[in-house]
Amino acid sequence: MGKLTVQLPDVQYDVYVGEHVYELFSSQYKELLQSADRVGIIADEQVAAMHLPILEKALADAGVSPSVKIVPAGEKCKTPAVYIDCQSYLLTENFTRNSLLIAFGGGACGDLTGFVAATFMRGIRFIQCPTTILSHDSAVGGKTAINLPEGKNMVGSFHQPSAVLFNTALLGTLPPREIRSGMAELIKHAFISDENWALELLEDRTFTEPTNEWLSVELVKGIKVKADIVAEDEFEHSTRKYLNFGHTFGHAVEAVCGFGGLSHGECIMIGMGYSFILSERHGEITESFTKRFIDFSIMNGYTFEPVLNHSLQEFLDYMKKDKKASFGDLNFVMLEKIGKPFVKKVSIEECEIVFRELQNRLDEGGNV
Ligand SMILES: NC(=O)c1ccc[n+]([C@@H]2O[C@H](COP(=O)([O-])OP(=O)(O)OC[C@H]3O[C@@H](n4cnc5c(N)ncnc54)[C@H](O)[C@@H]3O)[C@@H](O)[C@H]2O)c1
Ligand SMILES: [Zn+2]
Repeated sequence: MGKLTVQLPDVQYDVYVGEHVYELFSSQYKELLQSADRVGIIADEQVAAMHLPILEKALADAGVSPSVKIVPAGEKCKTPAVYIDCQSYLLTENFTRNSLLIAFGGGACGDLTGFVAATFMRGIRFIQCPTTILSHDSAVGGKTAINLPEGKNMVGSFHQPSAVLFNTALLGTLPPREIRSGMAELIKHAFISDENWALELLEDRTFTEPTNEWLSVELVKGIKVKADIVAEDEFEHSTRKYLNFGHTFGHAVEAVCGFGGLSHGECIMIGMGYSFILSERHGEITESFTKRFIDFSIMNGYTFEPVLNHSLQEFLDYMKKDKKASFGDLNFVMLEKIGKPFVKKVSIEECEIVFRELQNRLDEGGNV
């Protein structure tokens, strides 16, 4: 079992990764559970259908019989309506300020549950039990949010979990698209922190068909990158921005291509391609490295088609609304070299040049 500690100025908590992490409910975390007057699980519908008995059994072994609130699968749970429904549920189940919640699902369920916990009676404790590869990223760091019709993650807060128990045994049921999504965030963590690790991943022949054993090791590395950055800059004033590598353009792709088409990480892979070309212009990334990244992505089932099927204007409309935009210029995370990120303003003119360049290279490559 892998373990690491997230150390923040006011609080610290442990993250465990492996197939037996739920056993910790009846040892390490028994006291925490018993200190709560009520324990509630907020569970993603699809995850609950497949895996809830495993979590309930582990809690029963710890002497806990939780209330269970099932919420819609994936992003559909991050709505104001579901958020209010959860708050009402907790009130009718007599939850108090001394109660505790458990998030059981991917990043969407984790973000929702975190925000419910952050705001129920001005804040109660919660444990993250993530079930997707991507949530090695989202479950750590304390960002919580729901969506509004006007934009994603527009209402939220910082609220750190009391623990993160990442059970890798549950990852076997993930569809290929969700595996690709999570692996994109993993390689992002490598790109912004460690050249050797990034090159190792680019050589990997089982990148999107990983074994649990391999994943357990890699996910701990990814979580460590996130945990170290969050420890340095909990509220995103400086280095936490590096975690947005690939996200300025990637979020625009996600918005333009509509939710449901491509997964978040698949869009971020496209965004990283864009950022590598920017990094050639402002850092020391070579054209051949960008090519290697694009070839690797395509070989692993990622697509760059949106870049050829949409105009830059469509993406720009979203990028300008991005939280990272200011006074007409856009802020991008780039790499000086692999492992060395920095943030720089880019003009709309340059966005256009880079977009054309990416289109040309994809055209020349002939396979997107
Ligand atoms: N808080 C943060 O720091 C942070 C960081 C990154 C992303 N996020 C958020 O995370 C969300 C994306 O999370 P995600 O990629 O985990 O997707 P998700 O939570 O939307 O889940 C994707 C799909 O996978 C299914 N699923 C989950 N676990 C499964 C399993 N073990 N087996 C089979 N199916 C399973 C879900 O039912 C859903 O249909 C977004 O809302 C994003 O904003 C938050
Ligand atoms: Zn992301």
